[in-house]
Amino acid sequence: MNVLEIKNLSIHYGRRNVVSDVSLSLAPGKTVGLVGESGSGKSSIANAVVGLAPISSGGIRVNSVSAVGTRRTAKRARRRIQLIFQDPFSALDPRMPIGESIAEATRATGKKWSRSARKDRVRDLLSQVDLDHNRADELPRAFSGGQRQRITIARALAGEPDVIIADEVTSALDVSVQGTVLNLLRDLQQELGLSMVFISHNLAVVRYISDEIYVMRHGRIVESGATDPLMDNPQDPYTRRLLDAVPALGRRLHLEEAPANA
Ligand SMILES: Nc1ncnc2c1ncn2[C@@H]1O[C@H](COP(=O)(O)OP(=O)(O)O)[C@@H](O)[C@H]1O
Ligand SMILES: [Mg+2]
Repeated sequence: MNVLEIKNLSIHYGRRNVVSDVSLSLAPGKTVGLVGESGSGKSSIANAVVGLAPISSGGIRVNSVSAVGTRRTAKRARRRIQLIFQDPFSALDPRMPIGESIAEATRATGKKWSRSARKDRVRDLLSQVDLDHNRADELPRAFSGGQRQRITIARALAGEPDVIIADEVTSALDVSVQGTVLNLLRDLQQELGLSMVFISHNLAVVRYISDEIYVMRHGRIVESGATDPLMDNPQDPYTRRLLDAVPALGRRLHLEEAPANA
C-alpha cells in the first residue's frame, strides 16, 4: 500500500491550467523526487496535497484515505502530511522561541502531551536534527540559515507525519550548507523510515536523495522511474537538458564532505 497516491491530478488557478493529469505514488520509507524548471507546477502539487491549491480533477489519497474535500476524514488525512518550505527565514515566527514553535507542532499528532513530555520531545527533536538541545529558548535570529532549516525540519517531524514534502528546502542555502541539510534528511530517512516527496529544480540534488524521480514540465510529468536507470538513460529530451546542467553543480556540491556544523 502506498502512503501517498496522486491520481490524474489537475489544478487550475482561474482559467489557467497549471498542473495536468499528474499521477505519483510514494511507497512507505521511500523518497520520490519531483524535478522541473521554475513554474512547472511542483509547488502547486505540494500545496494541493495539503488542501491549499484548487484541484479541478483527480484524486489524492494518504494511506488509502481521500485527502480531497471538506470531510473530516479528508482533513485528518491532510494532517498526516507535513510541508517544509524553501525559506527558513519566513517559515519561523521571529518572536517565538524555536522550542515553542516545535512544541506547537506536536499538536498535529493528536496525542495528549504533558508539559514535561512535550519539553523532552522538543529536546529530542533538536538533537535529532543535530542542534544543541539547550537552545530551545532562543529566537530564530540566533541561528544561521542552515540551522533554521534544521529547526523547520524538527518542527515537521514533531507532527509525526506519514509523509514529509520538502519543497526546495536547500534552494535558499549556501552550497556548502545544502549538503549538510541533504545529508541530515538522508540520515533521518534511514533512522526514522521517513516517506518523503523531495521537490527541487536542481536535478543533482534530487538525484542524491531520491529512490525514484518524476520529471515535470509545463504542468505535466514527462518522465518518471527509478533514479539510477532514469539518470543513466533519460528518455525525454527535457530530462537530458536538465541532466546536462548537472555535472558542474554535482562537483560543487561536495555532498559527502560537507562540514558537520554549517
Ligand atoms: N496562487 C496562485 N495563483 C495563480 N497562479 C499561480 C498561483 N501559484 C502558482 N501559480 C502559477 O502556477 C504555475 C506553477 O507554479 P508553481 O506550482 O509554483 O511551480 P514551481 O513550484 O514548479 O516553480 C506558475 O505559472 C505560477 O505562476
Ligand atoms: Mg516551487
